[in-house]
Order: sequence, then structure tokens, then C-alpha cells
Amino acid sequence: MLTVTTVKELKSAVKQAREAGKSIGLVPTMGALHEGHKSLVDRCRKENNVVVVSVFVNPTQFNNKEDLRTYPRTEEADKALLEAAGCDVVFMPTVEEVYPEPDTRVFNLGPVAEVMEGPMRPGHFNGVAQVVSKLFMMVEPDRAYFGEKDFQQIAVIREMVRQLGFKLEIVPCPIVREADGLAKSSRNVRLTPENRAVAPCIYRLLSESLDFAQSHSVEETIAFVTGGINAHDAMEVEYYQIVDGITMQPITEWADTGYAVGCITVYCGDVRLIDNITYFRK
Ligand code: PAF
Repeated sequence: MLTVTTVKELKSAVKQAREAGKSIGLVPTMGALHEGHKSLVDRCRKENNVVVVSVFVNPTQFNNKEDLRTYPRTEEADKALLEAAGCDVVFMPTVEEVYPEPDTRVFNLGPVAEVMEGPMRPGHFNGVAQVVSKLFMMVEPDRAYFGEKDFQQIAVIREMVRQLGFKLEIVPCPIVREADGLAKSSRNVRLTPENRAVAPCIYRLLSESLDFAQSHSVEETIAFVTGGINAHDAMEVEYYQIVDGITMQPITEWADTGYAVGCITVYCGDVRLIDNITYFRK
């Protein structure tokens, strides 16, 4: 595995691969890698000749300075995981390397970015679009892999790809969960033992709501999930919305969509957890 820290080295590594007629897959990450990331790398490994993984905690997508400061950084463990997973090139740049000057681009990402995480984390999706578009320009991958835990992020990246005309395939990959159902996340390590013990109730309520939804309205289903989670002292639902899985727009009737996805964020103590579940896709 080749570890590179500069854009020049990265471009030279992918240029060689491309000139040899090889397909290139990219897995953008912010490090603190876990089984969820590994599943993206595994899929990328299967579908491409060359696997490039970026490990970069992107400051422009953090609207909360404390979250950026405390974001876990585990470079050596990340390299070991990537080496074992068969990654070919890992890109671990500094902030100055990615942003030699401030990125002043303002994306108009439209309705997919105006709901849920959009208003809750102002500037977040603009920062994601900035860094992911830069990575796409540097690597020019054939395919790029993203986890479905950040469900709305995938829709936003698709919109950015459409607007900028990138010729690549966005490959969404299923959520990987702990044995007790909690979605794997780099932020899970920040949960206190007590909060870690209750956090699986998020996925439990989401799963139970699949049955509940068969005989209840969208509004009742939202109340079922929200009430069930909020019943735990340490937990507070920030939002639970059931949306169309393509447009991200909230639905009010099940018949409003052929693809219904429930997207949730929950504060578990001071850790913000995110998850989602698909009710149906026709
Ligand atoms: O999902 C993430 O980890 C980040 O938002 C991404 C896509 C790597 C961009 O920094």
C-alpha cells in the first residue's frame, strides 16, 4: 500500500494506474475507520483494479468547532485496517494541502440539501460538496463509494456530481451495524458506557416501526419512533422524518412515494447519532 500526503503524489499514482488501463475506485473517509468503512473498501476492491482511500477530517463540513476538535483521529490504526483490506493508495493530506487557499465555492444543492441535515447543520453539505468535488478532481475515479448511514449525503453528492458533470458512478453501500443493532460510526467511541448501553434503542425502534407502519399513518409512525426513543433519559431525538428516498422531501401519506425512508438523528448524551431505515421501495 502506498501512503501519499500530497496531491502531486496522489495524481502521479492514479495517472500510472489509468495509463495501464486500470479502473479506479475511491473511498472518501474522515478516518477513525471501522467495519463500516471496511465494507466500502471491500466493495471497492471487488469492483475496481485500483483502490484509493482518502483519510481527511475535512474542516469545512464541521459547523461545530468542538465536534471538529474532538473528532477521533487514529491514523496508524487506519493504515493497518486499509493495508489488511487491500487498499492500494491511501491519501492522508494536511488541511493546507487540500485547501492551499480558502475554498470560497458556494454550491446551490437545491431541495435535497434544504431538509433534515441542511437546516440542522448550516454549511455542512457545502463543505461536503467542496471536499468531495476536490477529491473527484484529484483522483478522477470510475466509481466512488459512500455508506448509506449518511443517507442524505449521498443524494447531495449525486446532485453535486450532476451539476459539475463528473463522469463517475456513485455506489451507495448498506449500513454496517454492531451486534446489538447500533449503526457503526466513528462517533460511537465518544459514548459513555451508560449511553452506549441504551443507544441500540434507536435501531430497535426503527425496526419495530416497520410493522407499526403497516397499520398506522406516517404521522403516527413518526410519533411511535420519537416517543419510544425519547422515553430513555439519555436520548433526545433531534428529528425523525420519513422522506422520499430520492428527493429527500418529507412525505405526509405513505401513498406520496414509492420509496419511503425514515431518517433520524438522536442526541445520546452529547453525541449526535444518525441512522435510517427503508419502509418500502417499489
Ligand atoms: O461521510 C464522510 O465521512 C464525509 O462526509 C466524507 C464523504 C468523507 C467527506 O468528508
